[in-house]
Amino acid sequence: MESPLHQFSKISELLNLFEYEEVARRKLSQSAFEYFAGFAADGITDDSNHQDFAQLRLLPRVMVDVSQRSKGINLFGRKLSVPILAAPMAFQAMAHPHGELATASACEALGTTFILSTFSNYSVEDVCEKVASDIWFQLYVYKDKGLTKNLVQRATQSGCKAIVVTVDVPLIGKRENDIRNRFHLPADLSIANWQNTSSDSLKKLPGDLPDSGLAAYFASLYDCTLTWKDLEWLVSLTDVPILVKGILRPDDALRAIHSGAKGIIVSNHGGRQLDTSISTIKALPPVVQAVNTFDSNIPILVDGGIRRGTDVLKALALGATAVLLGRPLIWGLTVDGAAGVAHVLQLLMDEFDLAMALAGCDDIASITSDLVVQ
Ligand code: GLV
Repeated sequence: MESPLHQFSKISELLNLFEYEEVARRKLSQSAFEYFAGFAADGITDDSNHQDFAQLRLLPRVMVDVSQRSKGINLFGRKLSVPILAAPMAFQAMAHPHGELATASACEALGTTFILSTFSNYSVEDVCEKVASDIWFQLYVYKDKGLTKNLVQRATQSGCKAIVVTVDVPLIGKRENDIRNRFHLPADLSIANWQNTSSDSLKKLPGDLPDSGLAAYFASLYDCTLTWKDLEWLVSLTDVPILVKGILRPDDALRAIHSGAKGIIVSNHGGRQLDTSISTIKALPPVVQAVNTFDSNIPILVDGGIRRGTDVLKALALGATAVLLGRPLIWGLTVDGAAGVAHVLQLLMDEFDLAMALAGCDDIASITSDLVVQ
């Protein structure tokens, strides 16, 4: 039977993030959709990111005055309208020609932070020049330390307010759809942060291998020798805060902090790396406990599987400072560029606002762990 979404003509008729995914699936090429939606191996971690949120039950408070609900947070001295940031995601111009520029401007319009991927189709200079809001830069560490340093310097000189170092990709996970599709970038797109170099191996993904071009790119250019010493080196390069993304263990969270990280992002890379890794909502509480014992002011963000306002509420109740939203923004971008991204963010913000009201929370501080049955 044809999906009822078929009849929607205006995006405002889409009611939730799942409906955006269904429309985007029909608009994107198979290779692009499967890249964005993709997961490692059997998708067990990707599924549990969703299932473990769904299985947590809420224990709402009643008889609280929730006529005013304050959802803003402060992160590194800056105010965000809601505790929802845009996760770094690669190759956004595959979803819409305006790519990262559109996603960043939607974040600006809604008062939140956009995290630009190393693998963007618009360069960090371009995005920071055209979009006024706070932008953070996600960094993959190249084997060539000169290239890595160059990226960090360009990001901070362009005005990025934080660097997010991804640490869970020594190699790309086994993403079978990308292998089957020999995933690579369409001819008109490049890794824009290297668009001015003459080296095709830096700015393109190989398309002539019986493999995912992204996996081949990583294997040849990225540094799988990375250790905490390298984090200390990265911290020494810049004055902006460094967050470490890809933490699932409390001991790693503490190592990151002792090596100079100013924030932790609990993430399993959307289930795209080591399949059967723990879901992020299950990994979060022990990380929060360890980090808070050391310093309760260190921000702990979480991503993976957030699709409903109640998921945001649960993540905050279990100790997250904020969440990162990933794939649904790509679906919004595919459906209607910046307007689609803004609508996706608005839907999630409205659901979160309603969840706060129904759970008896009038501000972020009142979202406490007793709201979740563990
Ligand atoms: C890139 O970061 C990816 O996960 O595809």
